[in-house]
Amino acid sequence: MVKVEYSHYLDLPGKSMAVERVGVSFDPELLRRFDDLIRKKGYQSRSEALRDLARGAIMESEIDEGKGDVIGTLTYIYDHHEGDVNNRLVDIQHDHHGEILFTSHVHMDHDMCLEVLIVKGEPRRVRRLTDNIRAIKGVKHGDLVITKV
Ligand code: NI
Repeated sequence: MVKVEYSHYLDLPGKSMAVERVGVSFDPELLRRFDDLIRKKGYQSRSEALRDLARGAIMESEIDEGKGDVIGTLTYIYDHHEGDVNNRLVDIQHDHHGEILFTSHVHMDHDMCLEVLIVKGEPRRVRRLTDNIRAIKGVKHGDLVITKV
């Protein structure tokens, strides 16, 4: 038996904090692997892990549907010697000045740089900014972490 409660931050109907209990069937192998995973992640119960999964899936779906703004970070590393990477990064950042709240730069070693941008805005535009930066020759890795505002 798994307990699922409505989360008020998601503004779901019936916000009266009423708790509904639901039963979930797992095949034993899936349940064993799920239990292993949530133990590693530090969850105290299956219920809490399932609630987090549900919230995450709902939030992701709402972000994909483009409802409301998102806020988060875009982190990437690049080799500043490669091609025209510095100029291209600055051009793209200025094209998206409306979505970038903050930029930071760390010189990791002789060649590599790390930048973290704090981004906010329409999901469509934040994703385009991410795609444009990832596509620059010299950018090795780019990771966008966003949540709904
Ligand atoms: Ni640098």
